[in-house]
Amino acid sequence: PIQETFLQCLSTHSLTSTPISEVTYFPNNPNYLSVLNSYIRNLVFTSPTTPKPLFIVTPTHVSHIRASIICSKIHGLEVRIRSGGHDYDGLSYVSTVPFIMVDLFNMRSVSVDIEDESAWVESGATLGEVYYRIAEKSKIYGYPAGVCPTVGVGGHLSGGGYGNLMRKHGLSVDNIVDAVLVDANGNVLDREAMGEDLFWAIRGGGGASFGIIVSWKIKLVRVPEVVTVFRVERTLEEGASDIVYQWQHVADKIDEDLFIRVVLNPVTRKGQVTIKAKFNALFLGNAQRLVSLMDEQFPGLGLLSTDCKEMSWIESVLFWSNYQIGTSTDVLLERHSTKEKYLKRKSDYVQEPISKTDLEGIWKKMIQLRKPVLTFNPYGGKMSEISELDTPFPHRAGNIYKIQYAASWKEEGAEAVDHNLDLIRKLYDYMTPFVSKSPRCSYLNYRDIDLGINEIGNASYEQASGWGTKYFKGNFDRLVQVKTTVDPGNFFRYEQSIPSLEASS
Ligand code: FDA
Repeated sequence: PIQETFLQCLSTHSLTSTPISEVTYFPNNPNYLSVLNSYIRNLVFTSPTTPKPLFIVTPTHVSHIRASIICSKIHGLEVRIRSGGHDYDGLSYVSTVPFIMVDLFNMRSVSVDIEDESAWVESGATLGEVYYRIAEKSKIYGYPAGVCPTVGVGGHLSGGGYGNLMRKHGLSVDNIVDAVLVDANGNVLDREAMGEDLFWAIRGGGGASFGIIVSWKIKLVRVPEVVTVFRVERTLEEGASDIVYQWQHVADKIDEDLFIRVVLNPVTRKGQVTIKAKFNALFLGNAQRLVSLMDEQFPGLGLLSTDCKEMSWIESVLFWSNYQIGTSTDVLLERHSTKEKYLKRKSDYVQEPISKTDLEGIWKKMIQLRKPVLTFNPYGGKMSEISELDTPFPHRAGNIYKIQYAASWKEEGAEAVDHNLDLIRKLYDYMTPFVSKSPRCSYLNYRDIDLGINEIGNASYEQASGWGTKYFKGNFDRLVQVKTTVDPGNFFRYEQSIPSLEASS
């Protein structure tokens, strides 16, 4: 009966020629499970026991989004909003309370205006689609966002969005000029109509606390016709400790055209476990300039001109996604990854270089645990020039690099989940003395429910500020104010949503 009454409500409130019933999936629909699973990026949440939505609406029109909000409100149901489904802890499609899911994969147009140096992008597009459509129009424009092409625009842009253009151009949220959102009353609002406070909040505060964001107007950035990439690996036996130690002193200060990420991985070499440090770089210039810059400022890596590859910016996107050189850029239009794994991610910020002795201690711990991989992403450059109040994303000047902790595994079952969670948490605990404190900061887009979640059906300020200040520092309070103004009744609530002071107990 809830199905019928809900469908009736949806039809009444959706004013478009495509009947909403055609894009709504109830569990008895043979396509329900494939629609649900097709954008789940973490296999932990594909188990038969994972709680599932009562039904899924896959809007093709903004009117379907409005109707979903209005009818969920009438029926007292919570809503989960999904764009690309890359939320590491599955908060866009899993909940223990009864909920419906609005999945935006049908709304994914990308319309690029080179003359205006901008594009309108719907939330259901992937980053790969955005990059492809920009490059289709021009070789000298790009957009600063994540390095994985299947990530969805909706979650990524509302949660920060960083990639290898970050030191030159900042985050995705620093390059958004307008947006269209449907609020808790079903109003469709652009930047002017929503006002600057709400527009501020959805650029890094997590969109799902405030509304369903339909589309974004992004500002394109200029990229050179020729960029250079390299990927150089060193093990401990090849001096990795010294090189990583040096990297900490240059990576955030070096020319902002250069982004060098380090991935640290326990590997077995000649029967012995060691640490491999992989240095991945994007340089916004040619190889000759890069090599002389590296000789001068980071000689320890011993970069050779033969390590460097010149290419167009769009080819560098493929290189960073580990595609072979020469692969067609058409792969950026593939929305589904074939490499899904079970996974858990966590994050930290480093504000003082870690001593060489302490780095060696970390390697020892990693070798002992064998599983978690650490990725160091350098900050500095443009990131330090933007005030931490400009957007809800507060991790700006003073941060040398961000750490991502990654545990990925292939084994099914709860035991494997527990084992891997235990390993990643052990490494995170071990890192406590070396990372930011009071609060120990985290990156919202590296969703981590270990930091805490709201109580079911409610969200108290005290409870939410525990994890909220880790993601947003002092901006948490402004997010709470915006939330209290635009959604006092806390309709848009989920496990890590911003609380409304009017609704919290
Ligand atoms: P998903 O659909 O799961 O949404 C994530 C959150 O946003 C949920 O809370 C959801 O409800 C909300 N949301 C989604 N669409 C919304 C909308 N239209 N309106 C309101 N709320 C909405 N990050 C990064 O900065 N740089 C990187 O390089 C990468 N790389 C990367 C690789 C891989 C393989 C994964 C799995 C993840 C990343 N990430 C990342 C993290 C990524 O940025 C983060 O998970 C984003 O929130 C994903 O956005 P999706 O739309 O795909 O997720």
